[in-house]
Amino acid sequence: MNAIKLGDKAPNFNAKTTVGEINFYEWLGDSWGMLASHPADFTPVCTTELGAMANYREEFQKRNVKVAAISVDDLESHVRWIKDIEETQNAKVDFPLIADDDRSVSELYGMIHPNADSTMTVRSVFMISPEKEVKLTLTYPASTGRNFEELLRVIDSLQLTAYRKLATPVNWKKGDRAVIVPSVSDEQASELFPNGFETVKPYLRLTEVPV
Ligand code: BEZ
Repeated sequence: MNAIKLGDKAPNFNAKTTVGEINFYEWLGDSWGMLASHPADFTPVCTTELGAMANYREEFQKRNVKVAAISVDDLESHVRWIKDIEETQNAKVDFPLIADDDRSVSELYGMIHPNADSTMTVRSVFMISPEKEVKLTLTYPASTGRNFEELLRVIDSLQLTAYRKLATPVNWKKGDRAVIVPSVSDEQASELFPNGFETVKPYLRLTEVPV
């Protein structure tokens, strides 16, 4: 399987999960999606990550993003591990934890990097648009927990581009001005951003993010 690239259609699959069997596309519906792999159940970094993923529930919901996690462990292991996550991370894990003991989904998404570890998934993230297009891929090693604030920041950026024709400059955070995408002319920009914009250079135009 070649690596999944930005702009690719996210592969569909059926899987057993901690919330029942799902068809990925049907489960996503018209929402955005975030599919995150973790190396293994009952491991420390993964335990903190999945607790955070649960505790960011409202932030994901606000952005219309459904989240799911996956590893090559089986369903019985996932169900046992969730109890530990809930106990130690003060979290309610109600998103699907996908059981992939036959590795079919992990291989479909290229989540196993054999030269890093041939038995476990690495920490991959795939952000998927409502059209099922892959909008972000990210790969972290097993030993580095991901930053969920950064994942939310990326979702905000993706949605600004999709819905507002805005891009986000270096270290952008909510409240900062954003960049008008180059395909928008100055005339169109005046209509889209009635509060105006600053032309630093003809290719670098900044505007407040409309609320
Ligand atoms: C962890 O989740 O803590 C972990 C998993 C695999 C390797 C290293 C750390």
